[in-house]
Amino acid sequence: MSPLSRRQLLALGAAGAGAAAVGGAGLWWSSGGGESLGDGRELAQPEVLAGRGGVLDLALAAAPAEVRIGARTAHVQAYNGSLPGPTLRVRPGDTLRVAMTNGLEAPTNLHVHGLHVSPRANGDNPFVSIGPGESFDYEFVLPEDHPPGTYWYHPHHHGHVADQIAAGLYGVIVVEDPDPVPVARERVLVVSDLTLDGSGEPAEVSPPQRMMGREGETVLVNGQVRPEATAAPGERELWRVVNACPSRYLRLSLDGQELRLSGRDAGRLTEPVELTEVALAPGNRAELLVDAREGTSRLTAAPVDRGSMAGMMGGAMPGDGPGTDEPVDLLTFQVTGDRVRDPGPVPPGPSLRDLRDEPPAARRTLDFAMGMGMGMGMGGTMGGMRGPGAMASFTIDGRGFDPERTDQQVRAGTVEEWTLVNSSPMDHPVHLHVWPVQVVTEGGREVPEPRWLDVVNVPAFGEVTVRVAFDDFTGRTVYHCHILDHEDLGMMGTVEAR
Ligand code: C2O
Ligand code: CU
Ligand code: CU
Repeated sequence: MSPLSRRQLLALGAAGAGAAAVGGAGLWWSSGGGESLGDGRELAQPEVLAGRGGVLDLALAAAPAEVRIGARTAHVQAYNGSLPGPTLRVRPGDTLRVAMTNGLEAPTNLHVHGLHVSPRANGDNPFVSIGPGESFDYEFVLPEDHPPGTYWYHPHHHGHVADQIAAGLYGVIVVEDPDPVPVARERVLVVSDLTLDGSGEPAEVSPPQRMMGREGETVLVNGQVRPEATAAPGERELWRVVNACPSRYLRLSLDGQELRLSGRDAGRLTEPVELTEVALAPGNRAELLVDAREGTSRLTAAPVDRGSMAGMMGGAMPGDGPGTDEPVDLLTFQVTGDRVRDPGPVPPGPSLRDLRDEPPAARRTLDFAMGMGMGMGMGGTMGGMRGPGAMASFTIDGRGFDPERTDQQVRAGTVEEWTLVNSSPMDHPVHLHVWPVQVVTEGGREVPEPRWLDVVNVPAFGEVTVRVAFDDFTGRTVYHCHILDHEDLGMMGTVEAR
């Protein structure tokens, strides 16, 4: 793929004529854990926990779990025993309370990715550590004007994030739209990937795989291998797609169907956008409207070239170069039966705030870089390396993560412009907690419409400029690469609003 088309894709853009889509959600071990899911199985949906009277109160246990993946028994880690964990449905203005317990052997914590909530105390605080056997009570208060949309939750304990998400710890948060698009049904489709070893445990991840960002052999939708979803011709569905893979980028298409993007990370679009493909970096979400046409379609994830370490190594290395694999089938979409009545036009969404009209109080440049660690020979000796000393360094502005250090000090209530520079040969999907960002320029070109995201891909040797409105909250939180191996290896910084 040319760099240009890649950049367009990674901007959640669309191209060409035809049809594309994304797919599938489901709770995989729906009835007692004895069933084997996989080809030809109906796409399951995770259990839904919905708020009432402005509050959603729940207990969430992160613990080892035994589930079926395809025909195999897998020993994973899951929230409340299911993969994905329960879907949490709240409304703008609601309070979400989570009594979290850690049944794992490593420390963990909980992050509500994309929610615009306080980072302090028992809010969305990435510095909390919940030891094995311990509990912690979280409370997240959504502002009344919180954007409706598809968000997600996952662990965020530095050093364990990639391992825990890869092992199965993730779930969806839906902030309901007071003025929803009429649809026959909506589905969540959580795409994840993992590699199981011979005994059904998550496989060991080698140092080169961590540096590249691990990609699992098996790609799942709601914990299922190639499930099947069915609809009648003319039915409109809303698919809430989450890329929960630690490192894998997804370039999704749904042959034979028309797809419209109705929302991205940070909420609904003013008008849905027709597209043939949608690209999701790790952490990104897309809300897709599918107006079902008769026939059988496949939701596939095509490979994405996200760069490699070859440029640093003086040669290719084993496990290098994702993006060279074959497309992966994720889901079969079966549309048959009597045609239903036309669901009518999609009502317009809200008009979006445009920070280009708001002068920035400060401008900053952040440099995302990789350097060679100790003991890294040029001759491809990496496969035999052991221990952290053998790792390349992953830095922002030349420094690895230090939770005690405040890297960026911002004034609450102001707009800032951040230029994200990637001086490495691999893409880095950059994510800021609490405050969504508006992409202003990418590759030196202005983005015409207000494009709001919370994970922004910064291509290898490229740069992206965003504006951030540090509204509502004070406190300290983080920004990082959402290739979670990179985050665990140090590509994370702290920001304090005061
Ligand atoms: Cu989805 Cu800081 O994370
Ligand atoms: Cu996040
Ligand atoms: Cu990265």
